[in-house]
Amino acid sequence: MSQILNTIPSPPWWAWIFLFLFLVAIWDIFIQKKHTIKHNFPVVGHLRYWLESIGPEMRQYFVANNREELPFNRIERGWIYASAKKENNYEGFGSDRDLYAHQHIFVKNRMMGFVVPEGHPNAIDPYFLPCAKVMGQHNNRRKPFRPSSIVNVSAMSFGSLSAAAVEAMNKGVKKAGAYHNTGEGGLSPYHKHGGDIVFHFGTGYFGVRTPDGNFSMEKMKKLVEDNPSIKAIEIKLSQGAKPGKGGVLPGAKITPELAEIRGVEVGKDVLSPATHKAFSNVTELVAFIEEIAEVTGLPVGIKGAIGKLDQWEELADLMLETGKGPDFITVDGGEGGTGAAPPSFADHVSLPWVYGFSSLYRVFLNRKLTDRIVFIGSGKLGFPAKAAMAFAMGVDCINVAREAMMSIGCIQAQACHNNTCPTGIATQSKWLQKGINIPLKSDRLAQYFSTFRKEFLEITHAAGYEHPSQFTMDDVQVNVDDNDLNKSLASTYGYNKAKVPFTSVQDLKDCSYLGGKN
Ligand SMILES: Cc1cc2nc3c(=O)[nH]c(=O)nc-3n(C[C@H](O)[C@H](O)[C@H](O)COP(=O)(O)O)c2cc1C
Repeated sequence: MSQILNTIPSPPWWAWIFLFLFLVAIWDIFIQKKHTIKHNFPVVGHLRYWLESIGPEMRQYFVANNREELPFNRIERGWIYASAKKENNYEGFGSDRDLYAHQHIFVKNRMMGFVVPEGHPNAIDPYFLPCAKVMGQHNNRRKPFRPSSIVNVSAMSFGSLSAAAVEAMNKGVKKAGAYHNTGEGGLSPYHKHGGDIVFHFGTGYFGVRTPDGNFSMEKMKKLVEDNPSIKAIEIKLSQGAKPGKGGVLPGAKITPELAEIRGVEVGKDVLSPATHKAFSNVTELVAFIEEIAEVTGLPVGIKGAIGKLDQWEELADLMLETGKGPDFITVDGGEGGTGAAPPSFADHVSLPWVYGFSSLYRVFLNRKLTDRIVFIGSGKLGFPAKAAMAFAMGVDCINVAREAMMSIGCIQAQACHNNTCPTGIATQSKWLQKGINIPLKSDRLAQYFSTFRKEFLEITHAAGYEHPSQFTMDDVQVNVDDNDLNKSLASTYGYNKAKVPFTSVQDLKDCSYLGGKN
């Protein structure tokens, strides 16, 4: 038998390829029923799907120009990568931006800038840039908090980010003296590496929830008592990428570790409703804030994306009437990022940051309430010139999410929602996150924050100021349209921010509430 078989010539190598393609064609025409293109163009039809799947990478690497991509273009990403690696982050030959483009901003430099005197904190440490306001001071909270960095890590939960990414960020904020906002997924062991923490929760009350999904004050109290690194608490009302959108955490994704951290059951779907159960109107929200602040002693703030103003006005009126209210307000822009959101929400619901923040700030300015609140901005503000604009408009601190991700290696693959993030940052795949070198990446986040603060201080000094809190709306101009070519922020947005009671950077350094000392 074997002799007979040996007489049959073995087919040439190309015959195997031919046979394989023939089988694919049979599959395409007679078996698969989903794709018309594959049926009508067997074999070659596959090319269309493959090319479509690698299209974003091809465009990013070969086609898109330096300023073309969104959310962050190549120049912006390159600046963050170089800053995080302490490499040369300059550009040569002059700006490649169209300086006359609509919405382009200009910071007005002074004839002679601010001179840092000898012995000044910034002469000793050019990266030292704390917040000019203290969270919780006005409301006499027992543990007020002055963030020791004006740039901080924005809400991103363990669950949407990998354990390795969260740990790298926490170690990074510790090195940079910044704070780390937990995001909605609760306080994980990866958040406990010494960085200041802002504990954030949304409608799912993860980490502070009762078995039936309500808020648990006892758990909140215990969490704060057990974790002195928690310096403030943020209640999420909404976020720019998906305001008013609830969500389901599928049971399949709930591992024992995640269940433990979030306070939910293993393997069982968990619903984050669109609205809170702990309060249903503005009066109840203020009572809720006061109760948490009373029980924990910490400053309590709220985070929201801005659309309609009526309830914000109600809040401001109530603050005026009662002398109570949030210690800080984080305003997220509609351009904000997310682990996952429907495009209709991400693209269209809530105002972009400049419109949202300017409308909201005016509500509090008109009632002379701004000195009671630390304003925090988030929404692609992680660049020094954008930060100058935001400070001129009234923010006291900036939160960065995707910029922080990029500083630890995110390549904007935009795969956060499907667990396949190639850099291991926004995935739960153990294999993918193994590639993250935590000590190195934490250095990079710290270096990005340091470079950011140094460049921001240099811009501030060029404008003649000692601290960015001194920026006013007249210090920054914005291209508005063809008839009215270039106007100050003040005349564009119709207000000027209230003066922040800043004395000196030395006083900020000497403040007993200054964070970053865990
Ligand atoms: C992966 C990821 C997860 C996020 N998770 C939360 C969250 O849990 N809660 C929240 O309020 N915002 C969340 N955000 C929004 C960010 O905190 C931030 O407000 C927004 O991305 C704008 O900042 P950026 O432009 O610097 O990214 C998330 C963003 C990203 C990219």
